[in-house]
Amino acid sequence: MNQFGLIARNFSSSSAVQSAIKNVTVIGGGLMGSGIAQVSAQAGQNVILVDVSNDVLAKAQKSIGNNLGRVAKKVYKDKPQEGEKFVADSLARIKTSTDPVEASKTSDLVVEAIVENIDVKHKLFKQLDEVAPNHTIFASNTSSLSITEIGSVVKRKDRFGGLHFFNPVPIMRLLEVIKGADTSDATFNTMLEWGKAVGKTCVSCKDTPGFIVNRLLVPYLCEAIRLYERGDASARDIDIAMKLGAGYPMGPLELADYVGLDTNKFILDGWHKKYPEQPLFKPIPLLNKLVAEGKLGIKTGEGFYKYDKK
Ligand code: NAI
Repeated sequence: MNQFGLIARNFSSSSAVQSAIKNVTVIGGGLMGSGIAQVSAQAGQNVILVDVSNDVLAKAQKSIGNNLGRVAKKVYKDKPQEGEKFVADSLARIKTSTDPVEASKTSDLVVEAIVENIDVKHKLFKQLDEVAPNHTIFASNTSSLSITEIGSVVKRKDRFGGLHFFNPVPIMRLLEVIKGADTSDATFNTMLEWGKAVGKTCVSCKDTPGFIVNRLLVPYLCEAIRLYERGDASARDIDIAMKLGAGYPMGPLELADYVGLDTNKFILDGWHKKYPEQPLFKPIPLLNKLVAEGKLGIKTGEGFYKYDKK
C-alpha cells in the first residue's frame, strides 16, 4: 500500500471510534505538532495549535493545508467537491495561538510536542497546570524522556501520560500510549480511546527509555554505525544487507540519515547519561565526529551518504 493508501485507511477508520475528548490543544507547531493537529482535526476534533510565533504557525497551517489536499485527492477521488469541503472543514477546526495558557483553558487534552528539553517541558506544564480545567489530561509526545519525570511538576499526576506519535504523523499508523508511574487507569483508557478516534493503532508500554519502537530502533541504528565505524562492512553493504536480508524498507544508515544524526546522538547521550553501564547506549566516536562536522544527514546534505540539496 502506498503512503496515500495508508492515509486513506487511517482516515476512513478514524470516524468510527468516539472519544470523550473533543477539544485538543497541541503545543508546538513543528514537524510533530502540525501532524498531530492535522490528524485530530481530520477526525473532527476542535484543535488549538500553539507555537512561539505567528510565522511558525502560518508555516504549520500551510503544510497542514497541503497535506489535507493530498488526502482529499486520494479519499475523494471521484467527489472533488466533498474533498474541498473536507479540507475546508478540517482547516476550520484548527485555531492557532501563541499563548499556551489561554489555549489550555478550554481543552480536554493538551498534547505537548515542543523541544526535547526537560526543563522547558517542566516550565510549560507547571504553567498550564494552574489554568487548565480539572478534567484536562496532559500528554507529552517525547521520544526519549521519562513521562513520569516530565509529569513530576504537575499536581494532576494521575491525569498525565505519554502519547508518542511517529514521523510523518498523518502517514505512520502507530501511536504508543504510555502509562507513567502515576497515570490513572481512567486517563490511560481515555488516551487509548482518543488515539483510536484519530485513526491510529495504539500499543501500550511502560515508561521505559524509548518505549517500544525507539528502544529497539535506536540501539539497532547505533550497532549499524559501530559496524561501519569498525570497518567491518561498507555503508552501502550494511544497508543492502538489511533491506534484502531482513526485509526492512530502508537500511539502518539511510534511516539514521533520514532521522538526523544529531537526533540519534541526542537520544543516545541522554540515555548514556542516565544508564552509564548499558553497553548499547555507549557514545560512538564516529557519530560524534559527523555531528561536530555538521554532517547531520539528509537535512544538511550529508551524513553517511551525500544528498543533492534542492
Ligand atoms: P520541531 O523542532 O519540529 O518542533 C518543535 C516546535 O515547538 C517548534 O516549532 C518550536 O518553535 C516550538 N516550541 C518550542 N518551545 C515552545 C514553547 N515553550 N511553547 C510553544 N512552542 C514551543 O520538533 P519535533 O520534531 O516536532 O519534536 C517535538 C517533540 O516531539 C519532541 O519532544 C520530540 O522528541 C518528539 N518527537 C519527535 C519525532 C521526530 O521524528 N521528529 C518523533 C516522535 C516524537
